[in-house]
Amino acid sequence: MKLFVGWVLTYVLCLAVVKKMWSSRYLRSHLTRSLYMNMLSQNQAPYWEVSHQWYLCDKEKLSEELEPIFIQSYLDQETQTFLNRSIEKSGWLSIQLYHSFMSSVFSMFMSRTSINGLLGRGSMFVFSPEQFQRLLRVGPDWKSHRLLDLGAGDGEVTRVMSPHFEEIYVTEMSQTMIWQLQKKKYRVLNIDEWQRTGFQYDVISCLNLLDRCHQPVTLLKEMRSVLEPTRGRVILALVLPFHPYVENGLRMERSYQDSETGPGLQDSPAEFRTLGDGGGKWEKPAELMEVNGIMWEEQVNSLAAVFQEAGFVVEALTRLPYLCEGDMYNDYYVLDDAVFVLRPV
Ligand SMILES: C[S@@+](CC[C@H](N)C(=O)[O-])C[C@H]1O[C@@H](n2cnc3c(N)ncnc32)[C@H](O)[C@@H]1O
Ligand SMILES: *[C@@H]1O[C@H](CO)[C@@H](O)[C@H](O)[C@H]1NC(C)=O
Repeated sequence: MKLFVGWVLTYVLCLAVVKKMWSSRYLRSHLTRSLYMNMLSQNQAPYWEVSHQWYLCDKEKLSEELEPIFIQSYLDQETQTFLNRSIEKSGWLSIQLYHSFMSSVFSMFMSRTSINGLLGRGSMFVFSPEQFQRLLRVGPDWKSHRLLDLGAGDGEVTRVMSPHFEEIYVTEMSQTMIWQLQKKKYRVLNIDEWQRTGFQYDVISCLNLLDRCHQPVTLLKEMRSVLEPTRGRVILALVLPFHPYVENGLRMERSYQDSETGPGLQDSPAEFRTLGDGGGKWEKPAELMEVNGIMWEEQVNSLAAVFQEAGFVVEALTRLPYLCEGDMYNDYYVLDDAVFVLRPV
C-alpha cells in the first residue's frame, strides 16, 4: 500500500515537473528541433511573421488564361482564430499525451486518418467563409440547393460551406470519419453510390482528395457527370508539390517506432509526415494525373490542362495554406494548397 501511494506521488510529481517545463517555449522548441531536425523550422517563428509567404504567387509565371483570374488571399480573422485555437490546444499536455498514447496503440491496426477520426483530433482548415464566398463570387446570404463534399474528413471544412446549402451530401473512405460526419448530421453517401443517385449537385467540393485516391482522373469525370451543367461549380483544392499516394486502411506491420513522429517514416513523402498524418502503408494510385513542373505556378498551369481534359475550365484560383491542428510537438502543421473553382464546359 505504502509502495503504491509512493508511486502515485512520484508520478504526480513527475507530471507536474514535466508540465512546468512544458510551458517554457525553450523546451518545446528544443524538443521539436531534436525530433524533426530543421524540417519544420518554420513553426519556430510565430505565424504572423511567416504567414505572408503562404499566400504568395508569382503571377507572371502563370499562364495567360490563369493570370487574370488569380485571387490574392491573405491571413484573415477566421484563419487566425483557427491558428490561435490550435496553438492553445497543442499546449494541453495531458490531452496531447493521451492522444499520443492512443495513437501508438491504434496505429498497429488503423490508418492515421481513422485514428484522428476516432480521437476527434487533427481537424483541418482550408478556407474561411469569406474566402469561400470570394472564390465563388457570392455574398454571405447566397443560397443554393445541393452540396456534395467528396472525401469530407471529419466535416469541419464542410461546415464552412454548409450555411449556403439546403442539402449536404458527403463521402468518406474512413469508417471513423463517417461516424464523425453522421454525428454532424450530414448525409453520407457510399463512395461508389454518389455517381448513381440521379441527383445533380450545385456545388461539388473535392478538397485535398485527388492526390489521395486511386482514380483521380475517373473521379474528375464522374464529378463532371453529376454536376449541374450550367450553374454548377466544382471547388477543388490540391496540395502542391503534387505527391499522389493512397493510404491503406489496414496495417499488418509496424516499420517505425513512434507512430506520430518516428524517424522510420523517412520513406513516405514529406508532406504527410508534416501533417502528422503518416504511418501505415502507402500505395501508388492506380491512375496517374499528369502534373508537370516544379514551382507552384508551373504545377498550377499544368493542372489546368488536366481539368480541361475532364470537361472543366478554371474560373478562379487562389493560393492558401492547408492547416492542420497540432499535436505534442507542433502548434499546427501547414501545407501548400492550390484552390480552383471549375466550371463545366
Ligand atoms: C486529406 S483528407 C481531406 C479532408 C478534407 N476534405 C480537407 O480538405 O481537409 C482526404 C480524405 O479523403 C478520404 N478518401 C480517400 N479516398 C477516398 C475516396 N475514394 N472517396 C472518398 N473519400 C476518400 C480519406 O479517408 C481522407 O479522410
Ligand atoms: C490571435 O493571437 C494573436 C497573438 O496572441 C493576437 O494578436 C490576435 O488578435 C489573435 N487573433 C484572433 C482572431 O483571435
